[in-house]
Amino acid sequence: MITAEDRAAVDAVLASGWIAQGPAVAALEADFVRRYGGGGACALSSGSAALFLALKSLGAGEGATVAVPSYACSALLNAVYLAGATPKVVDVLPDSFCLDPAALARQAAEAAFAIAVHTYGAPADVAALQAPGRQLIEDCCQSLGGVGVQGQLGSQGEAAVFSFYATKIVTGGQGGLVWSKAADVAEAVRYYRQFDCRESYVPRFNLQMTDIQAALVNSQLARLEAIRSRRQAIARSYLAALPAGLSVQSGLADAGRMAYRFVVLAPDLATREALRRHMEQAGVGCAVPIERYELLHRYLKLDPADFPVAERLADTSLSLPIHPGLSDAQLAQAAAALSGFRP
Ligand SMILES: Cc1ncc(COP(=O)(O)O)c(C=O)c1O
Repeated sequence: MITAEDRAAVDAVLASGWIAQGPAVAALEADFVRRYGGGGACALSSGSAALFLALKSLGAGEGATVAVPSYACSALLNAVYLAGATPKVVDVLPDSFCLDPAALARQAAEAAFAIAVHTYGAPADVAALQAPGRQLIEDCCQSLGGVGVQGQLGSQGEAAVFSFYATKIVTGGQGGLVWSKAADVAEAVRYYRQFDCRESYVPRFNLQMTDIQAALVNSQLARLEAIRSRRQAIARSYLAALPAGLSVQSGLADAGRMAYRFVVLAPDLATREALRRHMEQAGVGCAVPIERYELLHRYLKLDPADFPVAERLADTSLSLPIHPGLSDAQLAQAAAALSGFRP
């Protein structure tokens, strides 16, 4: 949702005569360092770039294995391959949809790196995923501002990555960021994000964010608590309307939750499809967040039998509209439609 303040922030950048990476990007990075109480931050062109450069800066290159959740977007695989490492797909938990620590021990014990996605805002159990000799990247692309029992999401691993894509919690149209408690990791990311001004040749890139994007992101970050409240209020309305026979992703009513999606779980594929049709007939557009064919083990042609939880989630989940731009009338319409469904 773009407000008049957001537009004014962009206008100020346009009027300043400096539209490429500049003071607004520096302000965004300083904001993250402040939010996390230290460390270093580096803003980038996308969440994909953030994943890629976090891996590269942590040393996940050729010969390294990176554990990734089966139920996740393919940006994870892209980043691992671009860094020159090898992905190892691991199944997820049925309640949080996040990387399963027991499956990680079973399916990728040897992985020196892991990417833990806080899926749709649900905190991954980072403490249980950590192990001696393993570096963890927390993927906060869907959980900016979220707080779990282990504190602010992103604060526990070796690096945290964020996306500011158009559909994310706050947006610059596109954009990304790496924060790390180790300032040298953020500095390594900074080294790779632009190719000018080098004394000797090392492949480096242009993965910068513009000040136009950063101004938009900064303006929205200033109302992150209002965004959280609105998303939580929508989630509470849906929870109150949920008919017997359907369940939801865990923790949606938790105080620190940044509810990126409101995902309903049906008992089976046929009921999920019936729910989707029912909502559509009521004028409420819903989405299957990850289709079965998009699961990472399917992309890599691995045996689906080894990833039963992800398979089931793909078949049974449906995401209801939760963006803060939803009006009270639209919310009432969607909640009424949900409560009228008979599984
Ligand atoms: C969990 C996760 N990781 C990474 C990304 C990649 O972010 P971007 O679209 O900004 O490249 C996304 C967004 O699509 C995402 O949802």
